[in-house]
Amino acid sequence: MHARRLAILTSGGDAPGMNAAVRAATLVGLSQGYTVLGVERGYQGLIEGEFRTLEAAEVQPITRYGGTILGSTRCADFRESAGRDMARRRLADARIDQLLVIGGNGSLAGADRLGDPTDGAEKPPRVIGLPASIDNDIGLTDSSIGVDTAANTIVEACDKIADTASAHDRAFIVEVMGRDCGYLAMAASVAAGADQVLFREGGSSIDDHIESVVQTIINARNRRSGRRSVLIIKSEGVAPPAYDLKARIDARLTTIGGVVAKTETRVTVLGHVVRGGSPTAADRLMASRLGHAGVRALMAGETRKMVAWNPPRPPDSATRLPEDPRCWLIALADVHVETQRLLDGTSPTVQWRTTVFDTIESALRL
Ligand code: F6P
Repeated sequence: MHARRLAILTSGGDAPGMNAAVRAATLVGLSQGYTVLGVERGYQGLIEGEFRTLEAAEVQPITRYGGTILGSTRCADFRESAGRDMARRRLADARIDQLLVIGGNGSLAGADRLGDPTDGAEKPPRVIGLPASIDNDIGLTDSSIGVDTAANTIVEACDKIADTASAHDRAFIVEVMGRDCGYLAMAASVAAGADQVLFREGGSSIDDHIESVVQTIINARNRRSGRRSVLIIKSEGVAPPAYDLKARIDARLTTIGGVVAKTETRVTVLGHVVRGGSPTAADRLMASRLGHAGVRALMAGETRKMVAWNPPRPPDSATRLPEDPRCWLIALADVHVETQRLLDGTSPTVQWRTTVFDTIESALRL
């Protein structure tokens, strides 16, 4: 009776490409004879029983849209066991026993708890997660839905800022999203040709950051020819906020005096601009493949796993999906552990990223 109905939800911060995943998952489900339901507004809508049928005609054009047609929330109630039990009841009442969760690290941790038979009183659904977050802070996947689009948006913005920066010989600090993960700042700094990147994982103090920015500005001002403007990309996880940092840098430049003290600094905080917009082809393609693989995994009876994209160092328990060589199934519990390591800096992936930037830092400043 419960066999051929599956639901899809998007949760947490939206990410460009979520719609491409919804589209692929819906079309694959329909092609296999499933009724596919969308859950409105993430876990909040799940707790409130907001389901609607998804048809091919609705999802066909959505691959090019940013955001998510299903809506999304950050849901405090779902962090409580009672909230998750209510969600399980809503699913059972709607005769749904399979759920695809598309979201970031908090959403995936929630998916694991929802599928845990020891978590509450109600029977859990089978749950598969897809990594979707612009931050690239989800463990055991090379990338997540939205990262490529966000990086492209930052690079486009920096290219524009570089024009005005060089026209006025100014130093710009561009703050970008990424929460506690510096990946977007690091990747965009290379792609945009920035002079410096500030990220939390390097472990530098505020004073270190200020001194290194000042040194970058001194180097630029002392150039005999060529560009004297400066482009610094700051990850939002780096304290202090960009305008406070600017004030402290300005104060320090004044103490140096001369031409350096005359440097005009400016701040641009890109904020939610980075999260919006039409997804890149790379995001659409990856999201579509993840969506396809996610539904195949549900149909194969899998639960409490994430479909990872080309995972660096897959754990022993990971299995490559037969339908797609880039897609691996990894226990959500393992993903959670590695995500924590990414955020506390002990993951080899973070250490590798940090080492690369330590190595190239002086080259960026030339
Ligand atoms: O996790 C995605 C993200 O955009 C982060 O980069 C950012 O710190 C956060 O979400 C912003 O969240 P909100 O949209 O809830 O303010």
